[in-house]
Amino acid sequence: MTPLSYHHLFEPGTDAKAPPLLLLHGTGGDEHDLLPLGRALSPGSALLSPRGNVSERGAPRFFARLGEGRFDPAEVTQRTHELADFIAAAAARYGLDRHQLIAVGFSNGANIAATLLQLRPETLAGAVLLRAMVVLDQPAPAGSLTGKRVLLASGTHDPIVPNDHPPRLATLLRAGGATVTLQSSAAGHGLAASDIAAAKKFLT
Ligand code: MLT
Repeated sequence: MTPLSYHHLFEPGTDAKAPPLLLLHGTGGDEHDLLPLGRALSPGSALLSPRGNVSERGAPRFFARLGEGRFDPAEVTQRTHELADFIAAAAARYGLDRHQLIAVGFSNGANIAATLLQLRPETLAGAVLLRAMVVLDQPAPAGSLTGKRVLLASGTHDPIVPNDHPPRLATLLRAGGATVTLQSSAAGHGLAASDIAAAKKFLT
């Protein structure tokens, strides 16, 4: 069997009605990080959790960073396609229905989930974006995200994500037809109980 292109963990689902989740960690995390969150948010879901294949001085990420909030759009695009191709291969390997697959991403993982929606919309049915920012400032093509649901959860005093980014990202995704819910917590870049509650509600 050809090895899949990302280090990853796969946990089979135990509840056929629970959507499979794609777990995407933040900078310096790995494939283990979000498993407890995934289990808590949607018990019984199958969990696919890749490790970012870019290293920032040893910290795994899903695409490179030139500085805080500064990215190379060509590199982000290339990494987004790599991840989308991995997801397609992993879905075939593990028998996952991509029409049901929901990304749960935190920080850098939320950012690549957003670029997946912008560039490879067929990859996901929706996404929970925890502390996402605008990375690719381009609207999703009209109609490409019709029927897909997105929760964009931000923190009012996040030192990394500027306050105008969540509404701007919502506009870019709504251009493709996504139904986007903006949730704001009195929190920083780290997650708060209100984020978890909103994500859980969104997934059920
Ligand atoms: C990013 O680089 O994707 C964002 O700055 C979030 C982060 O990883 O801190």
